[in-house]
Amino acid sequence: MNKYQTLLASQLEAIKQQGHYRIFIELERLLGQFPYALHQNKKIVMWCSNDYLGMSQNPVVISAMKEALEKAGAGSGGTRNISGTQHYHRALEQELADLYHKEAALLFSSGYVANEAALMTLAGRLPDCAVFSDSENHASLIHGIRESKAEKFIFEHNNLEHLESLLQLVPLERPKIIVFESVYSMSGSIAPIEKICQLAKTYKALTYLDEVHAVGLYGKEGGGIAQELGLQDQIDVICGNFGKGYGVMGGYIAASATIVDFIRSFAGPFIFTTSMSPVIAAGALASVSYLRSSQKEREALQQTVAKLKSALRKAGIPFLENPSQMVPVMIGNAQKCRQVSNILLKDYGIYVQPVNYPTVAKGTERLRITPSPFHSDEMIEYLVQSLKEALSLTA
Ligand SMILES: Cc1ncc(COP(=O)(O)O)c(C=O)c1O
Repeated sequence: MNKYQTLLASQLEAIKQQGHYRIFIELERLLGQFPYALHQNKKIVMWCSNDYLGMSQNPVVISAMKEALEKAGAGSGGTRNISGTQHYHRALEQELADLYHKEAALLFSSGYVANEAALMTLAGRLPDCAVFSDSENHASLIHGIRESKAEKFIFEHNNLEHLESLLQLVPLERPKIIVFESVYSMSGSIAPIEKICQLAKTYKALTYLDEVHAVGLYGKEGGGIAQELGLQDQIDVICGNFGKGYGVMGGYIAASATIVDFIRSFAGPFIFTTSMSPVIAAGALASVSYLRSSQKEREALQQTVAKLKSALRKAGIPFLENPSQMVPVMIGNAQKCRQVSNILLKDYGIYVQPVNYPTVAKGTERLRITPSPFHSDEMIEYLVQSLKEALSLTA
């Protein structure tokens, strides 16, 4: 091995020893059979997909994507600036602006890129900006803030007193952004949005809310938690994505016309990249607009979540109690977490990915179970029984 290979391989070896080397489980999803998939030619049940509502297989979404492919072809043909702004992009941005009652919206390649682009641009270009960031914020928010080079204050997760004490350190007239999520994906906790907005008002800060794990799932039109609580108008920038509840891929922000124009005009990760395929934009548009009027997926998801949580409690399997759709079963050890996950997959045909460092802190490794409206009562019963057996085998 040459010197460079050795330098790289030694770091890979280190994470293998620590038990947080990532192993991808290859799946073949089966249209019309969600949450089943094939793994090594064996039918398994997925219990860790972020396709929370099974919208990737919704007939309305599938037919919109087929139609767009037939009409417009596969790719968009350019950046938004150079021949890549298609009718589907404009229609989707309009739909999102309507959904959030905002003046405008802007599409990105993913939720990650949306956060990175919006925050590096806003916090980087607002003069002398200070950013207040929840300690459990996602990597994309952290990365965007870091790229902005703005001064950063990290407040303890969902801790309003701590946030206020940090806000008091910065002069009132200095530009500020409070950056937080609605549903936190690893613990399932939900931010005290209303109180954070009150602090933002008092200390004259902008609010930036990542609703990626809530869009499609909460609110009367699927806008997210802020919509459910009637607080949309108090959030300056809402970020969402199409890759989870909406079942497709891509990201977006919704905000005032000036904020959207600012990010459109200055954000490198928006400007210098090929725009979203019209097929993806058409699928996302169909999914957003379908979930604005259909309640049945949201209601069915909540029922499955309640049933699974109650079955786990009855079986004495501890999980992090929370008010959202997340079901994090705490294991607390990277090797054991992987072991339980392997047993579930190999012996029981159940796929739950172990979540290890750096996604979560060392010692808090977990199995993050995500129900969907398509998981039946029998699947829940079988999961709980299998989990109980796998945990006792690794105790
Ligand atoms: C809170 C949060 N924001 C943003 C993202 C990135 O979204 P995407 O997968 O669309 O890049 C994720 C992804 O898991 C996330 O958990």
